Amino acid sequence: MEFLNQSKQLQDFTPGKPGRKLAKLISITSGKGGVGKSNFILNLAIAMSIRNKKVLLIDADMNLSNLDILIGVYPQYTLKNLLDDIVDVEDLLVEGPKGIRILPANSGDYKVQQNTAKLQKALIQAYRELRPDFDYILIDTGAGISEYTTEFVYTSDKIIIITTPEPTAITDAYAMIKMLHFHMKAPDISVVINMVQTVEEGKTIYDKISQIVQHFLNRQVHYMGCILHDRNLKDAVQEQVPLIIKHPRSVASAAIHNMAMTYLKQDMKDNQ
Ligand SMILES: Nc1ncnc2c1ncn2[C@@H]1O[C@H](COP(=O)(O)OP(=O)(O)OP(=O)(O)O)[C@@H](O)[C@H]1O
Ligand SMILES: [Mg+2]
Repeated sequence: MEFLNQSKQLQDFTPGKPGRKLAKLISITSGKGGVGKSNFILNLAIAMSIRNKKVLLIDADMNLSNLDILIGVYPQYTLKNLLDDIVDVEDLLVEGPKGIRILPANSGDYKVQQNTAKLQKALIQAYRELRPDFDYILIDTGAGISEYTTEFVYTSDKIIIITTPEPTAITDAYAMIKMLHFHMKAPDISVVINMVQTVEEGKTIYDKISQIVQHFLNRQVHYMGCILHDRNLKDAVQEQVPLIIKHPRSVASAAIHNMAMTYLKQDMKDNQ
């Protein structure tokens, strides 16, 4: 199967450093756009970094990349500069809040649209070079799976699918799970329900998705949690300061802290 060959490719060429484990790869994706992926991944990365993990955030959304905008940084170089051979991968990294690093993308750039295959190669090469230096690499794939991100998504240690309570978003989330199910051997899929009115609503929607997945695909998806609709988020985006920094005690921040804590605890257990 093609994805197994690709997976081998990514792993075989990753340089290892003695005494240091390679970063775990976590993809954050969704079927429908605008469900909160970028804000979630940014704040999750910071929550993990606060807990002493070395976290790299890769903005792999080549159409509507915006992680740099969310932290108010305007990078000198982006991935496309790798094509000109004038910069090294390290030169691309942007320092984010609480020590996270961000590899920014190129939004809607003509040169990007013309060099898809080359950029995809550059992204994979960048990932291989950076992987030994981090504990976790989080990838914002954008909505759906694009040709840039297929290889990453299909080789992820974990895939987080975000949806909102909207029926269209839920349907698209299921379509995404179905696609992963058919392309991957045993994907570890977690679901986050964003912009809910109550915690109960989040759990009910997860239960619905989980039952459908169980019934039609005979597999399980995990519940990572839900995030309440939080007006502070709009303010954080406006101010270009991540929510978890700007409003650390807001309900959405608390939910994301909780998810980071639970995930890191579980991951530590799994590694023992
Ligand atoms: N929990 C929340 N409460 C309130 N507003 C939210 C919440 N999560 C996200 N939003 C709002 O939803 C909008 C979309 O968020 P974001 O850009 O993170 O989504 P996305 O899935 O990355 O979008 P795209 O598919 O375009 O990349 C933002 O304006 C953000 O303020
Ligand atoms: Mg986004």
